[in-house]
Amino acid sequence: MVTPDPASLDVAPADAARLVQGFSLKDLPDSFYDDPYPTYRALRSLDPIHRMADGSLFLTRHRDLEEIYKDTARFRSDKKVEFAPKYGAGSLLFEHHTTSLVFNDPPLHTRVRRLISGALNPRAIAGMEPALVALVDRLIDAMAARGAADLIEDFASAIPIEVIGNLLAVPHADRGPLRGWSLAILGALEPVLSPAQLAFGERSVAEFLAYLRELVAERRRHPGNPEQDVLTRLIQGEDNGERLSETELLQNCIFILNAGHETTTNLIGNGLELLLRYPDQRRRLIDDPTLIKPAIEEVLRFESSNQLGNRSVAADTALDGVALPAGTLVTLGIGAANRDPEQFADPERFDIGRTPNRHLAFASGAHACVGLNLARMEGRIAIGRFLARFPGYAAAGPAHRARRARFRGFTTLPVTLA
Ligand code: HEM
Repeated sequence: MVTPDPASLDVAPADAARLVQGFSLKDLPDSFYDDPYPTYRALRSLDPIHRMADGSLFLTRHRDLEEIYKDTARFRSDKKVEFAPKYGAGSLLFEHHTTSLVFNDPPLHTRVRRLISGALNPRAIAGMEPALVALVDRLIDAMAARGAADLIEDFASAIPIEVIGNLLAVPHADRGPLRGWSLAILGALEPVLSPAQLAFGERSVAEFLAYLRELVAERRRHPGNPEQDVLTRLIQGEDNGERLSETELLQNCIFILNAGHETTTNLIGNGLELLLRYPDQRRRLIDDPTLIKPAIEEVLRFESSNQLGNRSVAADTALDGVALPAGTLVTLGIGAANRDPEQFADPERFDIGRTPNRHLAFASGAHACVGLNLARMEGRIAIGRFLARFPGYAAAGPAHRARRARFRGFTTLPVTLA
């Protein structure tokens, strides 16, 4: 442990030490899910390279995360060793999570990433904007007609499902089950799982695969425009020397559909909740709508949708003088690093005009989020147009958070609209 810096703690040093000593992702108190930040502050001040009960490490400093993200030779994304005992090596959850590009190193990572990122270039993203604006306005009109809404159910979750559905050209009539599958499959990445959650995740991969097999067969018969349709790109990539096996193709489609859902829902939901919690910042944004871009970055920093990342140590190394033997599992505390006073002035302040804002909500380096500009556009249009239409929206009851350590967001956010 390092010497406490009382200025960076908001609890008594003895309480901070208690938060740190017992900290393990596999044994979190309920209070952590509501507000993990006192624990993150205590860890960053007292024990920034913290060893948890299972021997893995939890990191909270911005500079440590940056160093790890940059160095794919020393820190791997492959998760086969970690996921075999978690899911069972023969399970579909194991096959899914160990085949998706995010949990792979080159060469699979490079091939899949190249295929996806080609379809998410700035021109392609700009081309999606008119349909996104029309969708957001339709949702806003429907909420206005009712005068009240649950901002997660009626707004935040309805946007990414359409955007990602369009990206893979999933027929509208088929989109209903996508969110449930996505929640179950990504939910299986939480540090602790009940047998029911495991079974639900497993069933969701099976159903998703069965659906995609048919969709892929249909798309092979009738290819779409590879400039816009990621599924056609991934299929045609197979013939262009970027060979993906059928399993790689299907599992990476599932990953793309999942990656863009819950994270972006939470960006929109967290943003609208923050503007309720900080009325001065809401006023500022209403008075100067050009602040929407830095405001989205600040939402991403302050309440990162994806709070945790993971890597494993490839060969014996050290981080800030701490020896890391090969095989050590490392959890990267994105939510903690995004409030590191070494990187951000007054980090506990929600400031929609903050510049610079070098947050790590999208990670960085070789695995940095491929969808980051798409997510930014969704956040900007959804929150910007909502606020222009309902500048006086107000809480209509308690908002509920999902009890999740990795994906931070709300399950319900009831409001009245004005
Ligand atoms: C606010 C919304 C989003 C957040 C906070 C977010 C966050 C992240 C993070 C932190 C990673 C890196 C994971 C790691 O290596 O540890 C990642 C990867 C990825 N994200 Fe996102 N994401 C968002 C939206 C999207 C969207 C809309 C897409 C749509 C296509 C997307 C697609 C991907 C893909 C394909 C990867 C894997 C990249 C790779 O491994 O090379 N994400 N995302």
